Amino acid sequence: MVTLAVVGAGSRGLSYARHAAGTGRARVVAVADPLASRREKFPDATPYADWRELAALPRQADAVIIATQDRDHVEPALRFAELGYDILLEKPMGVSQEECHAIVSAAERSGAIFAVCHVLRYTPYTKTLKALLDAGRIGEIVSIQHLEPVGWWHQAHSYVRGNWRRTDESTFMLLAKSCHDLDWLVHLTGKRVTRVSSFGGLHHFRPENRPQNAADRCLDCTAEPECPYSATRLYLPLAGREIWPLTALTDDVSEQGVRKALRTGPYGRCVYACDNDVVDHQVVNMEFEGGTTAAFTMTAFTPSLHRQTRVFGTHGSIEGDGDRLTVHDFVTGRTEVVETRPPGDATARGGHGGGDEGLVEAFLTAVSTRDRSSILSSPTDSLHSHLMAWAAERSRLTGETVRTD
Ligand SMILES: NC(=O)c1ccc[n+]([C@@H]2O[C@H](COP(=O)([O-])OP(=O)(O)OC[C@H]3O[C@@H](n4cnc5c(N)ncnc54)[C@H](O)[C@@H]3O)[C@@H](O)[C@H]2O)c1
Repeated sequence: MVTLAVVGAGSRGLSYARHAAGTGRARVVAVADPLASRREKFPDATPYADWRELAALPRQADAVIIATQDRDHVEPALRFAELGYDILLEKPMGVSQEECHAIVSAAERSGAIFAVCHVLRYTPYTKTLKALLDAGRIGEIVSIQHLEPVGWWHQAHSYVRGNWRRTDESTFMLLAKSCHDLDWLVHLTGKRVTRVSSFGGLHHFRPENRPQNAADRCLDCTAEPECPYSATRLYLPLAGREIWPLTALTDDVSEQGVRKALRTGPYGRCVYACDNDVVDHQVVNMEFEGGTTAAFTMTAFTPSLHRQTRVFGTHGSIEGDGDRLTVHDFVTGRTEVVETRPPGDATARGGHGGGDEGLVEAFLTAVSTRDRSSILSSPTDSLHSHLMAWAAERSRLTGETVRTD
């Protein structure tokens, strides 16, 4: 039985811990979170009000899940590596390139099992697609088109009203959200990226797009019935259910609790009257070693869908929608459809299409067997995909093509 400490028992920490306990192969023995309501979700674990209290003691568990907010990853990651814990670290590893380098060095020095939560690598869909590509089903990969449809309400929730709305409080959009996609493209091709260029910006969620009759809060707004981003329409129907994204608003998920959060908290605000600055659309062009290219689009203005991808090879192509893979064979002229049936949708609520579960299982396997092969990204792989995000952001801001090697 693997023993676990959870540092940051918010939505990600709790979800990983539940998956881990659900396997029957792990037990949470320690939990650190300043919020009593979050610690109480782990009645059998020793509670700590801050990760530093736990880190002041000798190692209390085999492994630690670090799921604090973006800016609070580096300190616990360095300290728990020093204490010899195996580490499951939420992305982004850190919010500066220096932090990421420091974490990777500490992980390598400690020799412990270390995995960054690149959940997309672990979905049944990705495993099937990667196996087809590695088996040469479409020959050599020449180019890729990849869409991250963030979804209109998810953008409003996380990146306009929520925790990832401001670069200075968390980080920029590519690192916060699309580091998954950049990492996934590297995983699919098995190649490092050499150059990137990028464009994008904050197009819509700006004060000048606010309807004239809009109020500061959706509960008071006469424009609300016509607004796609209405907080009352998004959250009130979820009242009574302890599910993301409602759990980000309040621990009291009753209708009264949700109304109170919409009245007083950040998630009840008009999307045109927030203090957000992260982009709502961005494209990144990438060149890989050997000349393979990829074009990536992240956009808010979609339904909530799985990522959509087309991979173009010398002997065939594959179109994927997060579930179904349509393989075109240029030799036979035939088309084959492979259904991968993801166990959940693309969101955190849906476990990222089985990625959360797959990651936790791989981590527990590595911790219990001391064989890292189940972990699909090495510390240096994670470093490369994080550094790609900075390179692309630099390109967006300067208009230059940026080298990543
Ligand atoms: N892998 C993914 O797909 C994915 C998806 C969503 C979020 N994330 C990342 O996961 C991380 C956590 O996100 P979340 O939505 O769970 O956030 P959250 O705010 O729900 O949870 C963070 C928790 O950390 C706790 N905390 C704050 N200071 C602490 C301290 N000193 N010691 C211990 N705990 C402390 C907070 O009280 C909170 O409960 C973020 O970095 C986020 O970017 C990853």
